[in-house]
Amino acid sequence: MKNYKLNSTVLKYKEIDSTNNEAVRLLDKKKSFPYWIIAEKQTAGKGRKNRYWDSLVGNFMGTYVLEINLERKFLPHLTFVSALAIYDTIKKFISNRNEKIVQLKWPNDLIINKSKCGGVLIENISSKKEKNHIIAIGIGVNLTKSPSKTTFPSSNIFEETNIKIDPDEFLFELDKNIIKKINFWKNGLNYEAILKQWIEKAFLLNKEISVSLPNGKKEKGIFTSIDNEGGLILKTKDKNKIFYAAEIFESL
Ligand code: BTN
Repeated sequence: MKNYKLNSTVLKYKEIDSTNNEAVRLLDKKKSFPYWIIAEKQTAGKGRKNRYWDSLVGNFMGTYVLEINLERKFLPHLTFVSALAIYDTIKKFISNRNEKIVQLKWPNDLIINKSKCGGVLIENISSKKEKNHIIAIGIGVNLTKSPSKTTFPSSNIFEETNIKIDPDEFLFELDKNIIKKINFWKNGLNYEAILKQWIEKAFLLNKEISVSLPNGKKEKGIFTSIDNEGGLILKTKDKNKIFYAAEIFESL
């Protein structure tokens, strides 16, 4: 294994339940930020909405732990900031010919050739004051393997591009890109530019989609944009509707 020199410190585990859980356990021990918690394998990988994240050896599983001194309401920006950093990282490895197949699915999935190849789970693991938060940005990217039973089609970068990315190399690039994007975001001052970059890469933009709501209801319409708060704008028959928590699917 090559020795990649990272900007952030890295704690590496062969096997752990979840790198996000480890971030919580380390709260009293590690006081210097940011740092990465990386695992070759997770036995209880967590996805959004308490879903299980299938954590297969050869894929990337890591949590970036950072301290943010900012009002709570700005924290959801980090979803878009980190998705863009992952996008830039994947792009670095795949050829220009393959570039267009990578997209970002609202709210925080990575797509390759219309299938999910990664996701982000952001947790606010400690808020001592309104303006002081420790954030765990959990990132899973299917580099070489994909889970078999998923509600949304799943794939991996190797299968779609024939390019095998080493998880250590991926971390090396992601570390640079996440720092770069966070700096570009400027604690929210540049959020508009972040959203613009995100929208340019949005999966199903201007397409008819089905929005699945937390209460089980479904809404159909055209996904036209993202509002200033990161909500999905859906043009329905009678009016524009905005959603902040939902899942989207192609309307067939
Ligand atoms: C999702 O798409 O639902 C988010 C998946 C996030 C998975 C990553 S893998 C590393 C980190 N540790 C976890 O337990 N989950 C995140």
